[in-house]
Amino acid sequence: MSEPEDRTVVVTGGAGYIGSHTCVVLLEAGWRVVVIDNLDNSSEVAIDRVRELTGADADRCAFVEGDIREPADLDRAFAVGDAAAVVHFAGRKAVGESVDHPLWYYDHNVGGTVCLLEAMQRHGVRDLVFSSSCTVYGEPEGVPITEGMRVGAQSPYGRTKLIIEEMLADVAASEPGWRVALLRYFNPVGAHPSGRIGEDPVGIPNNLMPYIMQVAVGRRDHLTVNGDDYPTPDGTCIRDYLHVVDLAEGHLAALDHIDRLDGAIAVNLGTGVGSSVLDVVHAARAATGQPIPYEVGPRRAGDVVAAWADPTAAAELLGWRATRTLDEMCADHWRWQATNPAGYAS
Ligand code: NAD
Ligand code: UFG
Repeated sequence: MSEPEDRTVVVTGGAGYIGSHTCVVLLEAGWRVVVIDNLDNSSEVAIDRVRELTGADADRCAFVEGDIREPADLDRAFAVGDAAAVVHFAGRKAVGESVDHPLWYYDHNVGGTVCLLEAMQRHGVRDLVFSSSCTVYGEPEGVPITEGMRVGAQSPYGRTKLIIEEMLADVAASEPGWRVALLRYFNPVGAHPSGRIGEDPVGIPNNLMPYIMQVAVGRRDHLTVNGDDYPTPDGTCIRDYLHVVDLAEGHLAALDHIDRLDGAIAVNLGTGVGSSVLDVVHAARAATGQPIPYEVGPRRAGDVVAAWADPTAAAELLGWRATRTLDEMCADHWRWQATNPAGYAS
C-alpha cells in the first residue's frame, strides 16, 4: 500500500467549516488534497488559511472552484491527481431552509451525490467518506444513540442524508470494491486552535454555539434559549457537542481504517457526553469572560429533547475517540470569533 505522501484525496466542500478543518488534518498526515467547492457557503480565504497553517502549496492543496452537480467540474478535480479516495462534505445543511426550498436540497445533496458517484466510477475511485448527521435518528429511540437504532428524518434536509445513505449502500452492494464510511456527526463546534479557520455562518446563525459567540463579540444583544420546560435536569435541550478538530480527525481515521469497511457502514461521531443549552452558556461565559445575556423564549418547532452518541463503534472500527472538552470547544471557537469578528470578511 502506498504511503499517505503519495496519495491524493478529493474533498468536496473542502472550503466549508468542517471541510477546511479536515483538510488541515489530512495535509498534516501527508495526504495531498484536491478541494472542489462552488463557494456557495464559504470563502476561498479558508483555502489560503489551510495552506498557511500546513505549509502546503497549491500543488499539495489544490483548489478547483466548481459544482459537484457538473460532471465537467468533477472531472477537472479528478484530473488534478490520481485520487485514492473522496471525502464528501459538499451540500446544503440548514433545516429551516430545506423546509422552504426542498428542491435545492434534493438537487445539491442527492443530485450532487449521484454526479459525484458517477465521477468516481469514471475515475475508478471506490473509497468514500460521507458527511451524514445524527439528524437521521429524528427523535431518537433512546440515549445514548447506537447506529442500530431506528432512523427517520424530520426535515427535507434529514431526508436527503437518509436517501444518500441508502443510495450509497445500494451502490456498494451493486459491485465489489466499494468501501464507504457514513459518518453520522453529532454537533460540531469550536475552531482550529490557531483561530485562523472557523465557522463563518451567513446571516443570523441557526445554531447555538455560533449565536452565543456572536453575542459574546457584541454582534448580537442576547441569546434566546428555545424553551426551558423540557424533561431534562435544567429544562433545556441536550446535545452532544463535538470539537471540529476531533471531528476532522475522525475523517482521517476513517481513511486510515477504510480497509475494515466492506460496503457502506454507518458510524456515529460524537463524544458520548450530553450538554444542555445552559451548560454551553456557562462554559462560554467562562471561556470568553463575557456575560452572554439570555432570555427564555418558546420551544423551537421540531427540536429533539436529548441526543447524544454511543461512540463505541467509532472506537472499535476506526480507532477514533473524541478527546477535547466543552471548555476547549468554547475557548477555540472564541479565539476564532474574537480575531475574526466578521468571519473571513474581517
Ligand atoms: P458548510 O456549508 O460550511 O460546508 C459545505 C461546503 O459545501 C461549502 O463550502 C459550500 O460552498 C459547498 N457546497 C455546497 N453545495 C455545493 C455544490 N453543489 N458543489 C460544490 N460545493 C458545494 O457546512 P459544514 O458545516 O462544513 O458541513 C459539511 C457537511 O457536513 C454537510 O454535508 C453537512 O450537511 C454535514 N453536517 C454538518 C453538521 C454541522 O452541524 N455543521 C452536522 C452534521 C452533518
Ligand atoms: N438553541 C437555542 N437558541 C439558539 C440556537 C439554538 O436555544 O439561538 C438551542 C436549540 O433549540 C437546541 C440546541 O440549542 O435545543 C442546539 O441547537 P443547534 O441548532 O445548535 O443544534 P441541533 O442539534 O438542533 O441541530 C444541528 C443542525 C442540524 C443537524 C444537527 C446534528 O442544525 O442540521 O445539529 O448534527 F442535523
